[in-house]
Amino acid sequence: MERIASPENQEVEPARAGEFAPLELGPLRVWPPVVLAPMAGVTNYPFRRLCRNFGAGLYISEMITARGYLMGNRLTRLLASSQPDEEPRSVQIYGVDPIDVYEISRELVSEGVEHIDMNFGCPVPKVTRSGGGSAVPLKPKLLARLVGAAVRGAGEVPVTIKVRKGIDDRLQTYLDAGRVAQEEGACAIGLHARTAAQLYSGEADWDAIGRLVGHVSIPVLGNGDIWEAWDALRMLRQTGCAGAIVGRGCLGRPWLFRELAEVFDGREPGPPPNFAEVCEILFDHAELVIDFFGETNGIRQLRKWCTWYTIGFRHSARARGELVRVNSLAEIRTILARGDPDEPFPPAALRAHRAKGGRTQRVVLPEGYLESRGDDTPPRGPRTPAEIDAFEKALRGG
Ligand SMILES: Cc1cc2nc3c(=O)[nH]c(=O)nc-3n(C[C@H](O)[C@H](O)[C@H](O)COP(=O)(O)O)c2cc1C
Repeated sequence: MERIASPENQEVEPARAGEFAPLELGPLRVWPPVVLAPMAGVTNYPFRRLCRNFGAGLYISEMITARGYLMGNRLTRLLASSQPDEEPRSVQIYGVDPIDVYEISRELVSEGVEHIDMNFGCPVPKVTRSGGGSAVPLKPKLLARLVGAAVRGAGEVPVTIKVRKGIDDRLQTYLDAGRVAQEEGACAIGLHARTAAQLYSGEADWDAIGRLVGHVSIPVLGNGDIWEAWDALRMLRQTGCAGAIVGRGCLGRPWLFRELAEVFDGREPGPPPNFAEVCEILFDHAELVIDFFGETNGIRQLRKWCTWYTIGFRHSARARGELVRVNSLAEIRTILARGDPDEPFPPAALRAHRAKGGRTQRVVLPEGYLESRGDDTPPRGPRTPAEIDAFEKALRGG
């Protein structure tokens, strides 16, 4: 059978028996060593469930702001929620105040959450401008306070952190962050191998993942540019990392988790779904989204998913104009019914970038921030309900 893969992946061998170990995070053993990346607006319960039905691994929620959660913001609470079939439950938190971080960790654990990830990679200007997100690791003592607070709040439940390489090529923070994470009792560190200045552009720097592996004794989870299951094998082989975090590659391609499970179990994956099969998966996803968010909000969310599922299929460019405006599931069905059900999955779509453009940015830090890197004072985060709402909106931008 011909392998449907990009040229760089044509010759990659499936895993050999015993070549890779399950990912161990405290009491959790994750096989295959594959993690669904936390993605705002994406990794809510419906998508996590869909992905999990295809494969196995760890499926992290989108980031949950500690303040929003603790103040009972309705959307934050909904996004942090789950259903009894989700096992293990994994939530990513975002917070810059150690007291909030401690409290949310305790509460999540008391609700049955079994893994907590902390977001220290957010590149959004509104966040870094106040010293949050990817600006936090510039202050290792502040980072230590936050990680320590989550570890204490979580008790026996494993805590991991997720960082970027740094602010830009000059201000790299990931090696320090690895040391801090380890000293404070985090049980793994995920590295998105791009800087905040790079946003999502260019190629992820897998060599940096290898350097972090050499620098810490806790497991490193590599992140960046897993578009095909074979990429994960190449990343683990090249860097020695303990697991791979899968981001944009699974947007509109949840079956990537089935393929990951297959290659890690030493098998050659079957062909990807054709157009009719992709549409069936999309409709299953749509039902889950509408059940969870309700009809109006659900359909609004599905617009972006429709374009991600259909990218690269013939006529998808033309359909996209209509799909981004749909108001009902029936409309989605009518538009997709015009496609060719037998059209095979287009190989060019394997590495087509979904979500987030290729732009870069100059990262904004608070005035005088770099002169006080030994400081551990938490930056002022949003406190009032209106500030929290505005902050949540800025964060949902990524
Ligand atoms: C739509 C979107 C939302 C994201 N939201 C988050 C988030 O909430 N928390 C986080 O740590 N990273 C977030 N990220 C970054 C991803 O977790 C991941 O680090 C990044 O996409 C790189 O992996 P990739 O090259 O496989 O896409 C987001 C990325 C995307 C595309």
